[in-house]
Amino acid sequence: MIDCFVTDYQGASVAVEPINKSAFDLWLKLQSEYLENVCENQGFGEKAGQFFLDYNKAGELSKVYLVVSEDLNPYSICEKINQLPAGHYHIETDDNAMASAVIRGWGFGQYRFERYLKAKDKAVLVVDKERFGYDLALVEATYTVRDLINTPADDMGPTELAEWSEEFAKRHDMSFDQLVGDVLLTENFPTIHIVGRASHKAPRLIELNWGEDDDLPLLTLVGKGVCFDTGGNNMKAAEFMRWMKKDMGGGAHVLGLAQLIISQQLPVRLKVLIPAVENAVSGSAFRQGDVVTSRSGQSIEIGHTDAEGRVILADSLTYACEFKPDLLIDFATLTGAARVALGPTVTPVFSNRDEFTEAIKKSGMTTCDEMWPMPLPVRYKKYIKSTIADINNSASLPQAGCITAGLFLQSFVDEDIDWVHIDTYGWNFGDRTGGTEGGEALGLAAVMDWLKTKYQG
Ligand code: BES
Ligand code: ZN
Ligand code: ZN
Repeated sequence: MIDCFVTDYQGASVAVEPINKSAFDLWLKLQSEYLENVCENQGFGEKAGQFFLDYNKAGELSKVYLVVSEDLNPYSICEKINQLPAGHYHIETDDNAMASAVIRGWGFGQYRFERYLKAKDKAVLVVDKERFGYDLALVEATYTVRDLINTPADDMGPTELAEWSEEFAKRHDMSFDQLVGDVLLTENFPTIHIVGRASHKAPRLIELNWGEDDDLPLLTLVGKGVCFDTGGNNMKAAEFMRWMKKDMGGGAHVLGLAQLIISQQLPVRLKVLIPAVENAVSGSAFRQGDVVTSRSGQSIEIGHTDAEGRVILADSLTYACEFKPDLLIDFATLTGAARVALGPTVTPVFSNRDEFTEAIKKSGMTTCDEMWPMPLPVRYKKYIKSTIADINNSASLPQAGCITAGLFLQSFVDEDIDWVHIDTYGWNFGDRTGGTEGGEALGLAAVMDWLKTKYQG
């Protein structure tokens, strides 16, 4: 259990009364003159996320009033929630949707990456696990994603990511396997090897499996696990390299999603694949102009060593298709172009099935984890042609970079496989939570909502 929630607490706690901003005036009419005056003088009720602390005659905190946005967006309360005094709280409302938004916002907002810091006392919310178990699971999975991303590359390289995954597998009743270093060559994963071979931490393909009932559909998740992206020989400038510890964010998302799926016991078999590498610079680094023949047989020309994510995903997707999954989803911090297109908090989603992107967009609205359908126009494939190989990892077109990257991935996915690709940012500069800057789960809540409707009805 994460430290801003308790589920088995019997002691005293302060009530938090959430108020929907759209019903604020109505609510205020029913309050005491004192509260009415306070609201008027302090501008309370004007903005979602505001809270007002009420004290009793003994000077003790007796109640918290909290304004929640009209659409019950959990992120609307994140910014202020971690300013609450440490102590125990409970939610005072009969409205489940409202309580659920407060629980999520409480958890998302109070997150703090404490691996290298002293833990801080938190405002702890008492939650009924029976009623709000899913909200707790979603917050926990979000913390998993954030912790993994926030951990610096020196402590979360390919080796450590594999060790972490092995521990995770044990905790979640999953099997764990990995193909490491030159074994990638003998087992025919040359694209993972060529990108990761320059690092002193060997490249690898991590594989976790869950569920044994062959009658259940196979859901395969693939996550980009570039533990640090220097850009390789086409080295990034300092300002663009600064946050590249986050480039294993796709891997973090699929681990978080697996955690959620297992916590909810979705009726699926699960396969999680993470190609884990460091895109490093050394004498053995791959170069511009190199050609690698992928597992699929297609040869790839390396037009740019900074477009490494799609290269390691190529063999991972080919391998994933060999098991004929019912559904294949990849998460990757694949392009800067995705941010240029949609900004920091709207996540582009691609698929070879249009109905999936539409359904995921809807789930994005429901969860306030906004996702937007992007096209994969065949006519743009000409921009990833190579003159000396079957395909080029960098596009000749300076526009639509996230689309040409998506098209590159698509050429490694069998047409008869239902496939979804998510170009996640994996990061938040405060745009979403208004506070905590760092690793962020983007697309996790939306995709899980979609999977729940798909597999649980
Ligand atoms: N990891 C980056 C993409 C990225 C950059 C994601 C910034 C989020 C924020 C990826 O490997 C990369 O460098 N992509 C290049 C591709 C280009 C060289 C074709 C990009 O997007 O600029
Ligand atoms: Zn790169
Ligand atoms: Zn990258």
